[in-house]
Amino acid sequence: MAIDVATVRNNFPILHQAVNGKPLIYFDNAATSQKPTVVIDAISDYYKRYNSNIHRGAHHLANVATEAYEQSRDFIATYINAATSAEINFVRGTTEAVNLVAAGMAKELKPGDEILISTLEHHSNIVPWQMACEASGATLKVIPINDAGELLMEEYEKLLTEYVKVVSCTYVSNALGTINPIKEIVAKAHAIGAKVFVDAAQAAPHKKIDVQDIDCDWLAFSGHKVFGPTGIGILYGKTEVMNALAPYMGGGEMIDTVTFEKTTYNRLPYKFEAGTPHIEGGIVLAEALKYMQNVGLDNIQQQENLLLAHGTKLLSAIDGMRFIGTAKNKCSVISFLVDGCHPFDIGTMLDANGIAIRTGHHCCQPLMQRLNIDGTCRASFAFYNTTEEIDVFVDTLKKVVARLR
Ligand code: ALA
Repeated sequence: MAIDVATVRNNFPILHQAVNGKPLIYFDNAATSQKPTVVIDAISDYYKRYNSNIHRGAHHLANVATEAYEQSRDFIATYINAATSAEINFVRGTTEAVNLVAAGMAKELKPGDEILISTLEHHSNIVPWQMACEASGATLKVIPINDAGELLMEEYEKLLTEYVKVVSCTYVSNALGTINPIKEIVAKAHAIGAKVFVDAAQAAPHKKIDVQDIDCDWLAFSGHKVFGPTGIGILYGKTEVMNALAPYMGGGEMIDTVTFEKTTYNRLPYKFEAGTPHIEGGIVLAEALKYMQNVGLDNIQQQENLLLAHGTKLLSAIDGMRFIGTAKNKCSVISFLVDGCHPFDIGTMLDANGIAIRTGHHCCQPLMQRLNIDGTCRASFAFYNTTEEIDVFVDTLKKVVARLR
């Protein structure tokens, strides 16, 4: 069953507005996605009916909120096929998840150890590992890519030596849309005894995630990219791996007992959840994922593949068009440059016509350096986008390019 896009669009109030006098065309979904009414309503429902702190109170509202929060955790565990709910940690987002894991691993790593990341990584999957290297004396190494933006798997295999303790890799590139062969990456790393962190921030909005099938040690994604709120995300971590990992933040809830001499830590997942969390975000994240499930992950992929093919075909007809990232296996992200036009000018002039794209380095400066460019224009589609919107976008882009040259 394909998506009925008109019906789906009615679930997203924000899409039905004019920007700069033109109907909004929102093609910046890789930066953040829009929110369906069920998500918006669940947020206000929480504050109208049962706002309370969780895990602490002996009163009705605290119990209702705690139950909703833990039910959400249970749902997310099932959604990504974790072995238990205790493997789901609520975090602020993917960035916090990488920092949490990298800070913990920094305590285990020593000089001579190596951490492998890829050229495709977002700064959030580079900088925390650089900090871990500074703290531990470990060395950061990078898996190279080809000009299409695909990982060079044979080079990856060469880098996998006995010194590698962690491989941290994105599932889908935010800047280019490349879908990495994540199961193969994990299996090869495990074969030499390394642990693997998967940045699924750009995969979760598009694909079914099955952590046991991927067999990663950690996997993270952000709520706001899967049609949920900002400031919430999840870190999946295998039980034995998380039991061994040092806690990230100290405070309430993450403890078992505290004396001035010594503290013992709480069981999973609470060991990694110090302080009052983003309660409403945690609850509503499950609503967002349920919404995706109702639309259907297969339907989502089908619609997005259609948009990717349509957009790529139409954009190819523009004189001077240069696609940045032409991997065989791609998500619905089109990064491009047009000869003689600065990406920022393109972005600004499209915005004047109600069309939202992202321009710049997309928090991937090392990737841009590898590609010998400063940045790109990036149109990223969600399942609520239409081929008609792409037609308007390409027609407008043609006019923009004509004016800029
Ligand atoms: N990481 C987000 C993006 O790629 C913000 O736009």
